[in-house]
Amino acid sequence: MDSQQFRAALGMFATGVTIITVRAADGGLVGLTANSFNSVSLDPPLVLWSLARRAGSLPVFARGTHYAINILAADQKELAQRFAMRDIDRFAGVAWREGAGGAPVLEGVVAAFECANRSQYEEGDHVIFVGEVERCMARAGAQPLIFHGGRYFTELPL
Ligand SMILES: Cc1cc2nc3c(=O)[nH]c(=O)nc-3n(C[C@H](O)[C@H](O)[C@H](O)COP(=O)(O)O)c2cc1C
Repeated sequence: MDSQQFRAALGMFATGVTIITVRAADGGLVGLTANSFNSVSLDPPLVLWSLARRAGSLPVFARGTHYAINILAADQKELAQRFAMRDIDRFAGVAWREGAGGAPVLEGVVAAFECANRSQYEEGDHVIFVGEVERCMARAGAQPLIFHGGRYFTELPL
């Protein structure tokens, strides 16, 4: 198996798209696009996501007490692309409110999970973050953004 085969197979698992945000110790806003989000436990309420060890944001997430997992709406594709770009101000012009621990919750998302940074596990070239959800919200009936095979989609009910 080569890495292209592995990526192609993984890409067949359609996911939503999140922007995960955290407040740095100096008050700065940090966030990145991630689709590795998943649920873990209902009681206690736990979720997970994984962050590349080489990600610039890793030191901030490793130390932060809280982060927010923002589930993007179908009309937020540009935000998904922007929060995966380097050397730009990702938060420029983005509306947000302060969530648990100061982590920014973005406007217009279909759902958000405000998490305490519960545990981290180093595995391969990523770090798995498990978050304990302190607050969450969902916009009933809203359309989520979908990611599959390197492309963005909106839902089409069967
Ligand atoms: C749809 C999509 C999903 C992504 N999922 C992840 C992910 O789960 N984990 C990760 O570390 N990077 C993921 N990335 C890549 C990061 O967003 C990108 O490398 C970003 O520049 C990292 O920011 P940082 O270096 O400031 O931490 C994804 C990118 C896109 C477009």
